[in-house]
Formats: sequence, C-alpha cells, structure tokens
Amino acid sequence: MLYGDYLQIDKLLSCQEPVTRMAGNEVHDEHLFIITHQAYELWFKQIIFEIDSVREIMTNRIRDEANLLIVTSRLNRVVLILKLLVDQVTILESMTPLDFMEFRDFLSPASGFQSVQFRLLENKLGVRNDLRTNYGKSNYLKIFEDQEVISIIKQSEDDFSLCDLLQQWLERTPGLEEEDFCFWEKYRGAVSSLLDDKKAEAESQADEAEKALQLSEWKRKQELFESVFDVKKHNALVARGDRRFSHKALQGALMISLYRDEPRFNQPFQILLLLMDIDSLITKWRSNHVEMVLRMIGSSQFGTGGSSGYQYLRSTLSDRYKVFVDLFNLSTFLIPRHAIPPLSTLMKKQLSLRNDGNSSDGHAWSCKTEDEANAAK
Ligand code: HEM
Repeated sequence: MLYGDYLQIDKLLSCQEPVTRMAGNEVHDEHLFIITHQAYELWFKQIIFEIDSVREIMTNRIRDEANLLIVTSRLNRVVLILKLLVDQVTILESMTPLDFMEFRDFLSPASGFQSVQFRLLENKLGVRNDLRTNYGKSNYLKIFEDQEVISIIKQSEDDFSLCDLLQQWLERTPGLEEEDFCFWEKYRGAVSSLLDDKKAEAESQADEAEKALQLSEWKRKQELFESVFDVKKHNALVARGDRRFSHKALQGALMISLYRDEPRFNQPFQILLLLMDIDSLITKWRSNHVEMVLRMIGSSQFGTGGSSGYQYLRSTLSDRYKVFVDLFNLSTFLIPRHAIPPLSTLMKKQLSLRNDGNSSDGHAWSCKTEDEANAAK
C-alpha cells in the first residue's frame, strides 16, 4: 500500500478547478477560495461521522455506562474540529474584497447555502425547522434540486437528532423517579425556602426604596422559577422555541449539574459541557463567517445563493439556532451548594461507581435492582 494510493491523493488534488482559469484569465485567490471550502466540507464529513456514531450509541447502547466514555471522547473530538473550523475563517480573510470581486460574478448562483453537509449537520444535531429563518419566503430545502439530496436531508429531519436522544437519556436520570429520591420535589422545597429567605430579607429593609427594589427582584426570581416548576408554562416556552427540552429532561440536566461531583454523574456532566461547547462553537463559526461576509460584500448586497446575504446570516446568530439552549439557561436555576438537598444513602450508593460490586456489567442508567427499589419504598 502506497501513501498516494491509500489516500487517493491524485483524485483529491485534481478537484481544484478555478472557473477563472477555465475562462482563460485565472484569478490567483480563487485557488484559496476553493481549497478553503473543500477543507471545510472534509471536516464537516468527519463531524457528521462522529455525530452519527454518538447518535447510534445513544439509541442502542447508552444503557451500558461504559459507553459514556466513548461518547465523551467523540464529542470532544467534534469540539476540537470545530475550534479549527472557527479559526480557519481568518485564512480566507487574507483575500481582499477587491480580489474576491474579480471572480465573485463567476460563482453565481453557487453558494454555501447549498452545502448539503452543513444542513445534515444542523439537522442531526437538532436545529428545529420551524425556528429557521426562511430563505426569501421559502423553506431552506427549496434551493436543492436533486431529489436524492432532498430525500437525504428530509430523512435527517425525521430521524432522532442528538438533541432528541439526549432528552430521552436525561429523562431516565437516576433519582428523578417519585418513588425514589424524587429530586424534583426536594429541589422545589430548597428553592422555595431560598425564595422565602430572600423575601424576608427584602421586607426587613428599613429604606423603602431599597425594600421595593429587593421585593421586585424577589418577584422576578419567583416568576422565573415558576416557569420551570409549572409544566404548562414550561411547555408554552417550548412551543415558542424559547426552550427545547421536555420538562423531565430539564429536570435530569439540572440534577446532573447540581450533583456532578457524584462519580456516576461525572461523565454525564462532561457530556453536557461538550454539547454546550459544540453549540457555542457553531455560533462562533456563524459569527466569523458573517463578519467575513460583511468585509467581502458589505451589508446590502444579495448573496450569490439569492438570500439577503449579511442580513440573513445575522439572523442565524440568534438563540433559535442553538440546539442545547436549555443547557446554557440551566445556570439561571442553579442554587448555592449549601442549599442543594443532600442525597439519601441509597441515592448516594446508586451514584457511586461500584454500587453493585461489578460496574463493568454496566449498571443501567436509571435502573435499580428490585431490592433497591423496595428499600427505597
Ligand atoms: C468570501 C467568502 C464567503 C462569502 C462572501 C460568503 C457568503 C455567503 C453568503 C452571502 C451566504 C448567504 C446565502 C447566499 O445568499 O448566498 C452564505 C451562506 C453560507 N456559507 Fe458562505 N461565504 C463565504 C465563505 C464560506 C466558507 C469558507 C464556507 C465554508 C463551508 C461557507 C459556508 C456557508 C454556509 C454553510 C452557508 C449557509 C449558512 C446558513 O444558511 O446558515 N461560506 N455565504
């Protein structure tokens, strides 16, 4: 096996054909433009490969907690690739707008908007279709003509996304069940006494202005917590797209965040952090890309793909495109360490790594032995 044969280098290096060369007046920077896009597409392919494997594990094999390490390391790999992709934008920025102008007209109507892999990546992570900015007045799929491509993208919309699978997993977090530790009830009690203390402190203020200020802050906090305790309010926020997780999944994520020091929650907590990194980095990529677009074509030219260009791209920086927005917002609902309800002895044991003397057989996430369940009752 030779290097060139194995990597099909000849094929790879014959894929750069500047249109300006074919037109007989080659523009130097078009080569960089092509290589940059191709490098992005190769890395998109690798990210999709990793995300697909994580989705497969989360569908079939996540109950064996030994697989959590694989999920963590693959998500970490995605994070590292995305960091590279964010930085890579600056290389293309070494091309000036005047250089770009020399070949831009040749490109139309080609556009990154037609990147199939970018759409697959978004859908596989869980960007919600109804929260996308419409392209002109059309759905983003309208730009594609190839029926096979359309059906592949549609399939990615229908399949369980990483966000869906994460929620199913979080819903099974040990400790959420009512007959067991019943985290939610305990957490609600802790929040309620924190809010009572805050109210008492506000009411004890001698200065009327200070008292009013503190009471309005208390009221604001109370309403905020109500939005997480009241399922109807939570579901209304989900319908509006302000929240994404099911109520139960949100509880699981909050429990993992509060008790992350318990051994069996270490990996899950790492996973939540990595998912936030992925969201942040994609937003950073979108932001770097939109800044580059501003620099290259300004804010009032249409894109070669036919969108409003800069204005359209700016709209994709909004939280509507953040898949794991609920994980970011968890910070709002964290409570101080001293107020976190202590774990029951059984729960403590359940969250230790070797509660059954043999962790390698994969004590299932949220599954208790019959004896433990009876003891909890
Ligand atoms: C000179 C550099 C670039 C310019 C001026 C530019 C411009 C644009 C514009 C105006 C759009 C909006 C769609 C349209 O109407 O065309 C767009 C979308 C897009 N571009 Fe670029 N782009 C550049 C480089 C890149 C690179 C290096 C990539 C890497 C893959 C890329 C990927 C994308 C993607 C994925 C979209 C769709 C984004 C979305 O819909 O959220 N672009 N680009």
